[in-house]
Amino acid sequence: MSRNYLASSPWAPHFWDRVGVVAGAQWGDEGKGKFVSDAAPYTDVFVRSQGGPNSGHTVMVNSRKYAFHQVPSGAAFGKPSIMTAGMVLNPILLYEEMQQVDDPSVIVIDPRAAVITRAHRALDGYGEANGTAIGTTRQGMGPAYESKANRRELIVISDLLNRRVLRDKIANYARTHAAELLEISEMEQRAILKGELDPNSALVPSGLNFEQYCELLAGELFEAGKKLAPHIANDTSTILQQAVNDGKRILVEGAQGILLDRDIGTVPYVTSSRTTAGATLADAGLSRYADPDNGFWGVIKAYTTRVGGGPFPTELKDDTGELLRQKGFEFGTTTGRARRTGWFDAVATAYAIRMGEIKKGYFTKMDVLSAVKEPMICVAYEIDGGRTTQFPSDAGTLARAIPVLQPVGRIERMNRHDIVMAGRKNGFDALPENAGFYVDRVETLLRDLSGVKDFEISAVSVGPWKGQTVLKQAFA
Ligand code: GDP
Ligand code: IMO
Ligand code: MG
Repeated sequence: MSRNYLASSPWAPHFWDRVGVVAGAQWGDEGKGKFVSDAAPYTDVFVRSQGGPNSGHTVMVNSRKYAFHQVPSGAAFGKPSIMTAGMVLNPILLYEEMQQVDDPSVIVIDPRAAVITRAHRALDGYGEANGTAIGTTRQGMGPAYESKANRRELIVISDLLNRRVLRDKIANYARTHAAELLEISEMEQRAILKGELDPNSALVPSGLNFEQYCELLAGELFEAGKKLAPHIANDTSTILQQAVNDGKRILVEGAQGILLDRDIGTVPYVTSSRTTAGATLADAGLSRYADPDNGFWGVIKAYTTRVGGGPFPTELKDDTGELLRQKGFEFGTTTGRARRTGWFDAVATAYAIRMGEIKKGYFTKMDVLSAVKEPMICVAYEIDGGRTTQFPSDAGTLARAIPVLQPVGRIERMNRHDIVMAGRKNGFDALPENAGFYVDRVETLLRDLSGVKDFEISAVSVGPWKGQTVLKQAFA
């Protein structure tokens, strides 16, 4: 890539030296894939370092729509796309997902990434039915991260290449969880008889004994492993270090949202990995090289969505919520589930900015908000009769929070093309008046409530396609 091209790009003042990271600053699905599409021309190497098939990132470019789950979204652009050891992967789905890009050879997998088996997926569903219903994506994330953390049950990507090792490790897992697997098999049988489950979708098919079940799982993973073998590196950290040394620009792509972080999110209604910008960078082994001025991006939706269970103070269960869902096409990229929708929540997002180590905001879906007659933002919570701008640290308290809402005035409809063209000359001044006011208001609130004084909203996304974005600074 020519440096001159970069210097003459509107994005130049916003792009990072060496390493940048992007995280979702709410409960996921903020538009991280869209951010990646805008960053792609100026990025040489893309990295995913946590999560797995629970993610769904949409990239829309050149009349094509991609859905990425495990592969970095940058693969749509034919650039090196590295998946590091922190991820947990479903190898069967991974191979299928890789086929949507023109050049899958850019995709590289770390041999230490963990493997999700059918048994992990079965246990995920079992936990939902018998424990706290988190509303997971049922992709097996929790059980596979459990196996990683307890180490004894861990199956890694390099095991896919040795059928005997693979089979033994699967048998070890199946033996430890035999009672649950048996119960799941019975539950599935009942569901099949009632016509609620397609027999081909059973995770613990009936009629198989222990040996046969382990062989089934080992067989399907071994086949996937053969196909993935050309993509499995010895050690992705050497590739990344080389890229840094060669002066390449790297983007670490976060997944989920900071409020779904396993440690500091709305526990227990969270995912099973860390999702902050800092943790995502550390998992990639690249913290040292991150650009402190331009490297820490958070994607923030102009309203709020959440999939699955857990407290959501600004949730709208009325027609306005439905309008946001329809206009914003708020249906899960991974599960197809309808996303819960609500007003922008400055208290929750400010907390995410601070805990997630975000400096620059990429503000999405302003166009969608223009469909709403009287948009509101939440500036504080009323909890047990008192007003606060502190995000409660426990889900029970958050569930009692009543949002203090302020009207912000109707946002005019936008002609995306005109706004994007005008944005090149006028930056955010090209936004319709109320949209500019909304962005300013949100930025000020996020700065004040988070205490992160240098936080700024640097880009406003007005459509799903690459380039449908207005940058803060004018570029003429
Ligand atoms: P991610 O998980 O953060 O990558 O987000 P998803 O891809 O799951 O969901 C975001 C959805 O919003 C996708 O359908 C995107 O194509 C779409 N999108 C992103 N930014 C914008 C925007 O500014 N306007 C509109 N209308 N859609 C957007
Ligand atoms: P992207 O990367 C939105 C949610 C699930 C559930 C909780 C735990 O597209 O933003 P899990 O399957 O991870 O154990 O589910 O986390 N969740 C997401 N919600 N976007 C995602 O990813 C999500 N990944 C997990 O809905 O509430
Ligand atoms: Mg998503």
